[in-house]
Amino acid sequence: MAGKIPSTFIDELVSRVDIVEVIDSRVPLTRKGKEFQARCPFHDEKTPSFTVSPTKQFYHCFGCGAHGTAIGFLMDYANLSFVEAIEELADGVGLQLPQQTPGTQAATPRESAGDLLGMVKQANFWFQQQLRKHPDARQAVAYLKTRGLDGKIAASFGIGFAPDSWNDLVLALAATPQARQQLVKTGLIMQKDDPSPGQNSESGAKFFDRFRSRIIFPIEDHRGRVVGFGGRIIGAGEPKYLNSPETPLFHKGAELYGLHRARRAIAAAKKSIVVEGYMDVVSLAQFGVDNAVATLGTATTRMHLQRLFRLAAEVVFCFDGDRAGRAAAWKALQVSLPEMQDGRKVGLLFLPDGEDPDSIVRTQGQAAFVERINTAKSMLDFLFDHLTEQVDMASRDGRAQLVSLAKPLLAQLPVGALRDLMFDRLTSLSGLTGTQLGKQEYSNNLNSRTRKPSKNKPNQPGQISPLAFAISLLLQNPQLALALDDVAALQQLRIQGAEVLIKMVELIQNQPEQTTARLLELFRDSPYHGYLEKLAMRTNFIDDDVLELQFKDTVGRLLENQKEYDRQEVLEKLRQKNIKELKEDEKVALVELLNARKNARKEES
Ligand code: UTP
Ligand code: MN
Repeated sequence: MAGKIPSTFIDELVSRVDIVEVIDSRVPLTRKGKEFQARCPFHDEKTPSFTVSPTKQFYHCFGCGAHGTAIGFLMDYANLSFVEAIEELADGVGLQLPQQTPGTQAATPRESAGDLLGMVKQANFWFQQQLRKHPDARQAVAYLKTRGLDGKIAASFGIGFAPDSWNDLVLALAATPQARQQLVKTGLIMQKDDPSPGQNSESGAKFFDRFRSRIIFPIEDHRGRVVGFGGRIIGAGEPKYLNSPETPLFHKGAELYGLHRARRAIAAAKKSIVVEGYMDVVSLAQFGVDNAVATLGTATTRMHLQRLFRLAAEVVFCFDGDRAGRAAAWKALQVSLPEMQDGRKVGLLFLPDGEDPDSIVRTQGQAAFVERINTAKSMLDFLFDHLTEQVDMASRDGRAQLVSLAKPLLAQLPVGALRDLMFDRLTSLSGLTGTQLGKQEYSNNLNSRTRKPSKNKPNQPGQISPLAFAISLLLQNPQLALALDDVAALQQLRIQGAEVLIKMVELIQNQPEQTTARLLELFRDSPYHGYLEKLAMRTNFIDDDVLELQFKDTVGRLLENQKEYDRQEVLEKLRQKNIKELKEDEKVALVELLNARKNARKEES
């Protein structure tokens, strides 16, 4: 979704917004020197370690590590999506959001979305009323009893009843043509052409209720507004579940059943549980497992995961143990990989054949279910298990095949320790070395600690690569980009991640008033975003008066390293040729290169 709002708009927004105001209106701040402080809203603390920097336009908690820009703060604090946070901030500074492509949430025209919400709310009320008052409701109540649901939990989930009628809802709510059109838009009633005009008709059209003779589960969006419904047939029949279609209010790929209700429990348990069914969520809650949500008859999406990760760092998926369940798990894995920032965890729980969380919690109780959740398989173990099953690990070819299957998957992991760890595991599983794996290709020098620091230069504290160090200095002090003498030379850098440094320098040269926050937002879609945030708040222990020197020096080292690497490469190529094949100029080059290397060695020792 981030791609839908032009980055120029986000940049404009971030430069207009003042993070101090944004945070202060929600968490009162007190000034402390150049910065502002408060007790951290993201963890419990007695002395304030939550710090907001007006110059960097960035906040950071030294206690729990929470950090980010104004956009990130709103996402985490108010639990908003990226687009919602942008909307909120834009409202605050009077910026108009640019026109969006249809299909995104923000594209919903506001006034009509409000009307539709009101309509859905009325329908929800009506369904609940039917469960209490309709003459046929006894049958529905009896069914709920056979499913073991008590009245309290049914009320708490707002469960309702759609009677066995073609048009009760139409008659109750669709009094005007306008109301009818709204109900059609929400998917609650359907319109069918009918040549013989009859009741409820408008110029030959007839209206029918979508949900008939079903138990109704209202679906709330992440803000707790009812936006759609799921309906289960009472007893046996097809289809077992019927859901609201995609409407301007309801997007299956964005919402999760029970999320709004579960959010506190998820935060408290530091974990969310994703199940497949409405009944699973309701049953689990009845047994005191309040941190479960369900996908709405679709595969898990990245948006789902992002919502869950905003509440807690761990997500456990429950699937059937059968083939379909394993296929669904594999899909969930693929969606999860790009979201696996360091510290996040995804677990997988495969249930015995024919069981679901509802049946398990009812027959075995809460403790047994929680125990299963706590011992769920790590998603990343599943990745390797699944792949090694497909190849012959006893043969070299099979192991090479494993590498080619795993590499593109691991490459989707965000830069960080986990990614390094996974590549290491692939190395040990396959028996192929990092180089044979082409690890450099996927790993990144931005994050690597292996680069040998040159001996006559002071080592950087905390051991990050020179590239990461340069970026860190630049992010925290954007004006440094203006001090570089030869910007064009940076183009020679070919190590992974160098493009970030180059882009950043360009951005600052074009707009010298860049701040840390603006730069970070411009890189929000980059695979390095999480790492860049870390670099933005890293303590580099560099005094202001030597900052420029350090920065230039580091960039100089990067260029030197690149040159040396290029030399080696040419040398390697020339050496592989037979000396007689070498042309005259190639011979000269070879001698020069060998000499240069000799000198470099001398200098080092
Ligand atoms: P299941 O078939 O596993 O049903 O569907 P369940 O949740 O165990 O339902 P009960 O216990 O028989 O009542 C899991 C989920 O898949 C979606 C629904 O979201 C359901 O909760 N589904 C299933 C549909 O959307 N349509 C269907 O026809 C069936
Ligand atoms: Mn079930």
